[in-house]
Amino acid sequence: MKKVLVIHGPNLNLLGQREKDIYGETTLEQINSALFQVAGENNVTLDFLQSNHEGEIVDVIGKATENQACAILINPAAYTHTSVAIRDAVAAVDIPTVEVHISNIYSREDFRHQSLIAPVCHGQISGFGRDSYVLGLRAIIHLIN
Ligand code: DQA
Repeated sequence: MKKVLVIHGPNLNLLGQREKDIYGETTLEQINSALFQVAGENNVTLDFLQSNHEGEIVDVIGKATENQACAILINPAAYTHTSVAIRDAVAAVDIPTVEVHISNIYSREDFRHQSLIAPVCHGQISGFGRDSYVLGLRAIIHLIN
């Protein structure tokens, strides 16, 4: 069975309580369950990481292939706009990566308009709320099959 690594960046552990007008009421557990369901229907397994620490995210991306992941689904959250280290880690592992965002980062503050990660990803999905994750996973399943 093919394995996809799912990475949730900083503060996404607070989904459901955090800025509900922007991110909605769905919790991270509910997002993970929706992903589990899609994965199960498509014969794919998932590994999850939520981390508020840039280095931990870099480490897990660097070990993706060693841990048999064949693709990465990532919401880098605030690190989207700041992290050269995460960008370089994604570029270093030669497996398809899809970046997702709950909110439409291009309709928000100027500092969110740039993603340092997206140029080294296969693509980006932004602005579909919780569905961004499921759409991202479906895109990955399409890519790896
Ligand atoms: C986010 C958008 C980022 O700008 C922000 O820092 C987040 C969440 C999103 O999913 O919409 O933490 O990645």
